Amino acid sequence: MDIYNFGKELIVEAGKFIEMRMTREFQIDSKSNPNDLVTDVDRETEQFLYTKILERFPDHLIIGEEGHGQNIQDTKGVIWIVDPIDGTLNFVHQGENFAISIGVFIDGEPYCGLIYDCMKRDLYHAKYKNGAYLNEHALLPAENISLNQSLIAINPKRVLGEETRSPFFKIMAESRSVRSYGSAALEFAMLAKGQISALLFLKLYPWDYTAGVIITEELGFKTSDLYGRELPLLSSSSVISGNPKIHSEILEYFTGDKRLYEYHEKIHDS
Ligand code: IPD
Ligand code: CA
Ligand code: CA
Ligand code: CA
Repeated sequence: MDIYNFGKELIVEAGKFIEMRMTREFQIDSKSNPNDLVTDVDRETEQFLYTKILERFPDHLIIGEEGHGQNIQDTKGVIWIVDPIDGTLNFVHQGENFAISIGVFIDGEPYCGLIYDCMKRDLYHAKYKNGAYLNEHALLPAENISLNQSLIAINPKRVLGEETRSPFFKIMAESRSVRSYGSAALEFAMLAKGQISALLFLKLYPWDYTAGVIITEELGFKTSDLYGRELPLLSSSSVISGNPKIHSEILEYFTGDKRLYEYHEKIHDS
């Protein structure tokens, strides 16, 4: 079995693990601040994925939000970038609307992307240059609609600051309306399904976006940081993703805002 098919089976298995684990009590802790939660289930699911991947492919590397591989310095070899639960706040408060997200890269090049909405049993998947699918159904190419006809996804908490407010508020005002679902991976999945036309984040990590980028690029969507640069695999980034038209429309709101640019460079670690 190749890496792609192995990954598809594995992510569904990990979803079953989460469902089973939710029937028992789990501990909830906070990380960088009281609203940044992590549970035993996040950590155990990452460990589950880590163990299974290495059992099958001992020479592969794994980077995970909950600690695995965060010292990896270069992109040589096969790297699995894993978010065991994307949308932990939804997991804790709602018991749904979260996903497992896995992006696989070979020598820094995209290989496949997998996003599994465990509670809905929906698997979004794509192998590079082979189209993108929701379960067994091919997803349709991006529609080129503009910002003023679009629903866009933004995490409001991140953009309320003095430095960020102005361009983000202008973009929100120009859009048809704004949504915030609390899982970047599921927002990429909604982009892939055509339910929103763009997503916009001030700060995400590769485990939040790599699977989503691989899946949506298969459909003709474009992704970059706020300044049009390619997203990194080993450090945090801002993210704009959408059809090519809306992507370039949104980029324009960020050109020339020196204060935001300086703030942006300060909050990202590379
Ligand atoms: C979070 C979600 C959320 C985004 C946050 C991420 P987590 O991931 O993707 O939508 O706004 O920035 O940290 O911590 O639930 O895996
Ligand atoms: Ca987290
Ligand atoms: Ca995440
Ligand atoms: Ca997570």
